[in-house]
Amino acid sequence: MTQTAPHTSHQVSTDAFPMNGTDYVEMLVGNARQSAHFYQTAMGFQPLAYSGLSTGVKDRESYVLIQDKIRLVLTTPLKPGTDIGKLIDRHGDTVRTVALWVDDSRAAFATAIERGAESYFEPKEEKDDQGHVVRSAVKSYGDTVHLFVERSAYDGVFLPGFVAWEPEYRPGPVGLKYVDHMVANVDEGQMNKWVDWYANVLGFKQLISFDDKDISTKYTALMSKVMSNGNGRIKFPINEPAPGLKKSQIEEYLEFHGGPGIQHIAVATDDVVDTVTQLRNRGVEFLRVPDTYYDTLLDRVGEIDESIEPLRELGILVDRDDEGYLLQIFTRPIGSRPTVFYEIIQRKGATSFGKGNFKALFEAIEREQELRGTL
Ligand code: FE2
Repeated sequence: MTQTAPHTSHQVSTDAFPMNGTDYVEMLVGNARQSAHFYQTAMGFQPLAYSGLSTGVKDRESYVLIQDKIRLVLTTPLKPGTDIGKLIDRHGDTVRTVALWVDDSRAAFATAIERGAESYFEPKEEKDDQGHVVRSAVKSYGDTVHLFVERSAYDGVFLPGFVAWEPEYRPGPVGLKYVDHMVANVDEGQMNKWVDWYANVLGFKQLISFDDKDISTKYTALMSKVMSNGNGRIKFPINEPAPGLKKSQIEEYLEFHGGPGIQHIAVATDDVVDTVTQLRNRGVEFLRVPDTYYDTLLDRVGEIDESIEPLRELGILVDRDDEGYLLQIFTRPIGSRPTVFYEIIQRKGATSFGKGNFKALFEAIEREQELRGTL
């Protein structure tokens, strides 16, 4: 039995409408062409689709990349004064859209609005000779939006308006499988508002909560609650800063991002040691914990299948919840601003999150904040 996919069948679904998983994630970036190169070369994504000048779109360009179930859209403006350009000016490269795969976009939108969501755009049908999709969207924290994508009547490469992107350059994948969770940072005092939003509007359940006693170092603290849909495929932890002696990584994010947004995208692998080895060989940089983390690892998490040495060498963290354990590691921020980063995660039975790694991780981030002069 595979232990890496979330299995939360014991959980009773309270979803406001059927949600199958993450359909795609769209990032607004300063230079989509070069970002696409990074995602191919460093992260192992495969070219999928394109829209831009050559497809008749004059004001923006998008590259779509895929790795197993993860679809990533990179969009950049092609001229000054655009809405996208303003968002990039405020946030830097940023996750703008988390698109959810639904059965019925019109029904999803109507239900979300009825349950208190604010419209971003109303349901619209888009078609080409491959069929049609229906998309609608609501606003979430900051400038983040959730799209509801219905694509059962579509056979095209991505969405109407996109053509296949088929470059000769195709480095291989690194074993990334699906989006495990996506974490939001919101302003102090706003976490519960957004927890309630996901519960009220989408019918999500709270999986777990961590307070500032769980997540604090000598200098900084934060609080976090994890919201999940019924099938466990969509998990959104929401963080807010808690008062501490120095500026927390959450406050640093909020300052450089110019408000709330997605802090990290966690992507799952079946073999974290192999995936992280490949990513490192391709130039991806990871946060390091002190070597001493591994001296007492087995005392903290119990027996694990993996041998400690490769974990220590790569800096992979191990944590445990009630159901099993998980292995995880975090990249350094991927852009110039200390904002968005990635997590690589392998689940071995654990469907939730442990709290044992927070301290080690945050101390690692604080060492980097100190170097940036932002602690
Ligand atoms: Fe995470």
